[in-house]
Amino acid sequence: METPKMQYRYTGNSGLQLPVISLGLWNNFGHKDDFKIARQIVQTAFDCGITHFDLANNYGPPAGSAEENFGKMLKSDLAGHRDEMVISSKAGYGMWDGPYGDGGSRKYLIASCDQSLQRMGLEYVDIFYHHRMDDKTPLEESMGALATLVKSGKALYVGISSYSPEKTAQAAAILKELGTPCLIHQPNYNMFNRGIEDGLLATLEENGIGCIAFCPLAQGLLTSKYLGGIPEGSRADKPHGTLNAKGVTEEVVGKVRNLNELAKTREQTLAQMALAWVLRHPGMTSALIGASKPEQIVDCAGAVNNLDFSAEELKKIDEIIEGATFTGW
Ligand SMILES: NC(=O)c1ccc[n+]([C@@H]2O[C@H](COP(=O)([O-])OP(=O)(O)OC[C@H]3O[C@@H](n4cnc5c(N)ncnc54)[C@H](OP(=O)(O)O)[C@@H]3O)[C@@H](O)[C@H]2O)c1
Repeated sequence: METPKMQYRYTGNSGLQLPVISLGLWNNFGHKDDFKIARQIVQTAFDCGITHFDLANNYGPPAGSAEENFGKMLKSDLAGHRDEMVISSKAGYGMWDGPYGDGGSRKYLIASCDQSLQRMGLEYVDIFYHHRMDDKTPLEESMGALATLVKSGKALYVGISSYSPEKTAQAAAILKELGTPCLIHQPNYNMFNRGIEDGLLATLEENGIGCIAFCPLAQGLLTSKYLGGIPEGSRADKPHGTLNAKGVTEEVVGKVRNLNELAKTREQTLAQMALAWVLRHPGMTSALIGASKPEQIVDCAGAVNNLDFSAEELKKIDEIIEGATFTGW
């Protein structure tokens, strides 16, 4: 397999560079999945220059098992490469029973980070995120917990995920005050979900915060795979896959078909064009993909061969995706 040359971008105002394509271990890396294939995916990614691997306490299934499996790979395949990798984890969704395993309390975030480190066999994560806003916990408490993780050496940087523009600005101000700047925001962003164009991107730029877009392929919909129906083994087909097959409608697939034709004129696959489109914003640090096969990684990494769009191509994409109702999950 030919490995394209990866590109790296600075994350907001920080000195940390991330690959423009990063790999997330939400689907396909749990105990229910094939460990051999999972291992090949991670190795292929690293060989393609994908130095950033994104996890969370609840990735699996079962929850926690993606971190356990990734820990095994770090030990067996990547042991000498820790300093060449940026590894992130998160807490914010329900993880364990009782009142301390969910939300945004200091109690939950610090205990969860400790558990993630143990599962992965790491002394620190590079980035620790609050996975979602918790409006029952004061923002000062959640951000204070993130700052503590940095001060105690358990995380090098911190980030937030799926926060609104207003809460992002407030969180950034609190973290700045605490001397631990907010490195990065992780929002959902793809051609079918453009919500972050409505304020969040501007807030991130104003605050010097990087951005890593999750589900840039709308969980696989923005590839050619669903053009002939739902293929066996795809995320929409898997019982534990997170893509709801009901979202794969005629209307959506019609738009995907038109996008696929446009990608061909750019001599790219649709996956590559969808990633390039996410990365067209100068403030977009990285597109955070998932994969079920090593070949998908090579295909996605190939997006770097053409990240530019003409004004005409962008207009055509706007026309095709206008009115799209798919949000992905
Ligand atoms: N912060 C949050 O709340 C949050 C939420 C969701 C995700 N995330 C992060 O974002 C990461 C990525 O999310 P995602 O997996 O939904 O991203 P995605 O890149 O939109 O979708 C990945 C899926 O697309 C398909 N695919 C990928 N490359 C392909 C290619 N070249 N050709 C054909 N199909 C291809 C595969 O589907 P098949 O499996 O069908 O082959 C793959 O599993 C997660 O792992 C996680 O780290 C974060």
